[in-house]
Amino acid sequence: MRHTVKKGKTLLVNGPASVNILSGETTILGAKFRKGERAVIRDGKRLPFETNKRVVFDLMLGENASFEEVDGTTIPFSWKNAFKKVVSHGRPVTVMVMGGTDSGKTSFCVYLANRALKEGLKPAVIDGDLGQSDIGPPSTIGFSRVTKQIKDLVEMTAESVCFVGMTSPSSAVNKVGEELAMMKSGVLQTDVDFLIVNTDGWVEGEEAVGYKVQLAERVVPDAVVGIQQTNELTSILTLLKEKRRVIAIESPQVVWKRNKEKRKSLREFGYKKYLKEAKVRLFPLSQIKVEDALSETGGHLTVEHMERMEEGLLVALQNADRSFLGIGVFCGVDSRRETIRIYTTVGENVSTVCIGQVKLNREGKEIV
Ligand SMILES: Nc1ncnc2c1ncn2[C@@H]1O[C@H](COP(=O)(O)OP(=O)(O)OP(=O)(O)O)[C@@H](O)[C@H]1O
Ligand SMILES: [Mg+2]
Repeated sequence: MRHTVKKGKTLLVNGPASVNILSGETTILGAKFRKGERAVIRDGKRLPFETNKRVVFDLMLGENASFEEVDGTTIPFSWKNAFKKVVSHGRPVTVMVMGGTDSGKTSFCVYLANRALKEGLKPAVIDGDLGQSDIGPPSTIGFSRVTKQIKDLVEMTAESVCFVGMTSPSSAVNKVGEELAMMKSGVLQTDVDFLIVNTDGWVEGEEAVGYKVQLAERVVPDAVVGIQQTNELTSILTLLKEKRRVIAIESPQVVWKRNKEKRKSLREFGYKKYLKEAKVRLFPLSQIKVEDALSETGGHLTVEHMERMEEGLLVALQNADRSFLGIGVFCGVDSRRETIRIYTTVGENVSTVCIGQVKLNREGKEIV
């Protein structure tokens, strides 16, 4: 359907929807979006289209999709200011983004990346949110350079992925800190000069506070940006202030809250994307190592161990350099033929299989 919006407004579109511009020009989280371009908005996601002049949209709305118009911009002034502060640090700069669930973390990362690109910088994102990961599949930490303007982190193809194997950080506190720190130092050896590190939404309670402080201690960002609706980050930001530059910003008023089910279905979309055209493949145990992803000591698993493992466990396949090749679902082990069965798209160069703790069925649905 055609829909015209006057200058100086923002059209909020809640997916599943597909949006085309028939005439005029808009800005989405700092990125120009023009006539002829198309934006696809997944179920559970929302995109804000800011109109700089009169714009004619072509909206294709899926089931339960909706849209509304609001006056002016939905980018808080504090977001613009935070970018200015971060960019004034010099190069390279690392900024860590913290906030509760649905506070606007991902959108703020997109906004920062777009603004940095416009300034001629070389931005990149490390996505440390295991549960609502946008770059790699769920339960991983993904990394990607941003070479063109983006509307959503999900558009980016992961350049490297670290498999953690669970979607909640509380049982992987050390692993996440360690991996984020390692990725950061690797990335800063390249030409990236504006590094954005996104984190998960676990911010409430003593444990979460300790975890977030520990992440900042390991990653050593030049600035931590905390997004909050009221004061849910006070404890974290107060502790971080002792050692780091802390910038507190607001959550946009139009932030869209997703329930547990929507989050789960967004994750399932993430698994499916990486299991498209997967099939059950056999890997000889004489040629691959099987490990527990979370074990600090290498965690080599024996056949007896594997026989006790439940079908459906999420796994990651790695090559001899320990680079991530893809994910899979553990289907069983054949001790007589000494093979492991994995439902995956990855067929070659597999050297290690890391076993995670999430359980999936073949459709990529999480089983609890
Ligand atoms: N400035 C904004 N204008 C309009 N909509 C926004 C804005 N910021 C965020 N939103 C919308 O609010 C929702 C939540 O934002 P976002 O996904 O960025 O939050 P998050 O903190 O990353 O959430 P999660 O905990 O799921 O990772 C999204 O649908 C997003 O499109
Ligand atoms: Mg997010």
